[in-house]
Amino acid sequence: MIILGIESSCDDTAAAVVSDQNIVLSSVVSSQVEVHHRYGGVVPELASRMHIEAISPVVAKAVEQAGISLDQIEGVAVTRGPGLIGALLVGFSFAKAFAWARDIPWTGVNHLEGHIYSTLLSDDPPEFPFTVLLASGGHTSIFHVASQDRFELLGQTRDDAAGEAFDKVAKMLGLGYPGGAVVEKLAAKGDPCLIDFPRALLDREGFDFSFSGLKSSVARYIQLNSENLVEMMPHIAAGFQAAVTDVLVFKLIQAARKTRSSRIAIAGGVSANSYLAARMKKEAAENGMTLYLPPRAFCGDNAAMIAARGHRLILQGDLCQLDSDVFSRTRYL
Ligand code: KG4
Ligand code: ZN
Repeated sequence: MIILGIESSCDDTAAAVVSDQNIVLSSVVSSQVEVHHRYGGVVPELASRMHIEAISPVVAKAVEQAGISLDQIEGVAVTRGPGLIGALLVGFSFAKAFAWARDIPWTGVNHLEGHIYSTLLSDDPPEFPFTVLLASGGHTSIFHVASQDRFELLGQTRDDAAGEAFDKVAKMLGLGYPGGAVVEKLAAKGDPCLIDFPRALLDREGFDFSFSGLKSSVARYIQLNSENLVEMMPHIAAGFQAAVTDVLVFKLIQAARKTRSSRIAIAGGVSANSYLAARMKKEAAENGMTLYLPPRAFCGDNAAMIAARGHRLILQGDLCQLDSDVFSRTRYL
């Protein structure tokens, strides 16, 4: 079955064509970073307008790159939530109209489940069950994935998401938005042990996270060291990244131990971080576990993961109707 996937939950307009066995025929992502960069974060109203401009060309490009005709598309999968309502509605309304006009089935995908499915897009996907850390700009959660359709939430952030913390620290250091990749690059030149930033909730049971204290601690450090900030910047980035990584690694390994999983995975924009991936891989090996990662192109927001999850929902008859709507908050809460 050939599925057209559409994603517009935040600031990327994405479309992809995916066939059986999660084979990605095309994946197109149109980023709005240039527009939001100057505001230091995503401006929802602007995001919606940019999605409207981008959606048709992005879908056309995905179909063209897949080398198929529109008639060959047998189903549509679109992100239904969580995300920015105005942004979601653009992709959702497009998918609804497209499927209705062509009289094909369509389904709404939970963005978090999409990220979990991104791990299945690799050449070496994990078997079920596995335990996954989803770390992005909007979420930091650990799920036990018992089967293709059973996602048990084990813990989540109580305040900022890990990617959001990267973005905020980048902003404090004057590095612009988004911050993950630039902080990682700067951190590579610094000493991760020089500044001891706090690691929250490590001594608590459970798998919840908190990154707001770490963010405030970095802000305080910057304020107190304004004279030699340029010299200290790589060390601040490295110390911050090490603090985030320590917590993410510890909690995922603990969660996998609790659920007796020998397979762990990381997904979401932050999973593109090489320092995190290397540390997680080492810790997994020391605990007799195997780490699975999505292909790099599918760490951040994309529509291939939405098509993959949607494919499964369509096969099960879990479809949307003309009066179906989007949702802003995750249903796991
Ligand atoms: O999954 P994603 O594209 O969108 C959301 O669903 O939020 O994740 C975006 C987030 C941003 O906060 C960005 O700073 C972060 O992922 N990110 C990174 C890296 N690349 C992107 N964080 C740490 N290291 C990276 N290399
Ligand atoms: Zn995402």
